Amino acid sequence: MNHTDHVNLLRPGIPESGGLWADLGSGRGAFTLALADILGETGSIISVDKDRGALRDQELAMRSRFPSAHVDYRAADFSRPLDLPPLDGVVMANSLHYFSRKGPLVEHVRSMLKPGGRLIVVEYNVDRGNFAVPHPLTYPQWVELAARAGFAETRLLGTVPSSFLREFYAALSLSPA
Ligand SMILES: C[S@@+](CC[C@H](N)C(=O)[O-])C[C@H]1O[C@@H](n2cnc3c(N)ncnc32)[C@H](O)[C@@H]1O
Repeated sequence: MNHTDHVNLLRPGIPESGGLWADLGSGRGAFTLALADILGETGSIISVDKDRGALRDQELAMRSRFPSAHVDYRAADFSRPLDLPPLDGVVMANSLHYFSRKGPLVEHVRSMLKPGGRLIVVEYNVDRGNFAVPHPLTYPQWVELAARAGFAETRLLGTVPSSFLREFYAALSLSPA
């Protein structure tokens, strides 16, 4: 996937520029850069990853490609309390598949959002993992899990073929208003 693919997956789930978003498990920033592109200069992003090296690489890429983006880089474990202000949106791209028990984490993420806030999940659309993707979840599995964790109106935003594991999907879920 390239930057255009990343933007195209997220954009249908982000109706307007601006707002406060977090990217949980942002890594080297593929989707953080896409968020910066979509939200524009009036938006703010809290970029969370436990890997400080990846965050440093991400910051360099952000400075070079979106120098006026407002990004707060946090080296932290997103499954623990992060003490963030209420968020307009959260992106979790390829970071849910590390958790075998996802329910409590998804409820924790819902608690970070404002009423009506948006969660965009990007995952491989497969039900069997491998060393790199230990606990994947298909889109239908995500629909069920999101509803059990209190999210509403889950819908598919798009898919992109993957030579590694079938395809990626992006899905939008809403925190109840
Ligand atoms: C496969 S990478 C995905 C990076 C990026 N979101 C993307 O799609 O290109 C997963 C990232 O999640 C981070 N991660 C996994 N579990 C985490 C946790 N509990 N807290 C913070 N970061 C975590 C890893 O350090 C890694 O950078």
